[in-house]
Amino acid sequence: MKHLIAIALCSILCVLILMMACSAPPNGKTVFIESGCARCHEINGTGGSQAPRLQGLQSKWTPESLEAFLTDPPAYAKDNARLLAYQKKYPTPMPRLEIAPARRKILVQYLLKRYP
Ligand code: HEC
Repeated sequence: MKHLIAIALCSILCVLILMMACSAPPNGKTVFIESGCARCHEINGTGGSQAPRLQGLQSKWTPESLEAFLTDPPAYAKDNARLLAYQKKYPTPMPRLEIAPARRKILVQYLLKRYP
């Protein structure tokens, strides 16, 4: 009987740990890759001929402005001379990508930390 209780408790614990692992938020790099950003932007030294190199982002963006840009890049860029100048250099302007708001927030934190 004691064994059965121990087994039951262990099973419950396992299920709880699994549930926690599955609901943990994804990390920024995963969101970056899954959102398709790496198709155009360089990451870890590969790719990047389709888009400007991400660097010095903290001097160019606040978390709020970066979030607004990522929500709708074409709309944001049309009033921004710096972004419009980039668009002359690269074949396709940054497109609007479907990113859930919670994931966009993770992305913003990641970008500002990874490319300060
Ligand atoms: C089709 C290629 C393409 C994809 C995909 C793409 N970008 Fe861009 N990105 C660009 C281009 C081109 C620009 C230059 C500005 C513009 O086009 O409006 C840019 C600009 C940026 C900037 C501003 C850089 C600066 O110097 O201020 C950031 C930040 C950025 N992209 C992040 C991302 C993130 C994050 C993703 C994924 C969600 C992404 N990009 C997906 C092409 C792309």
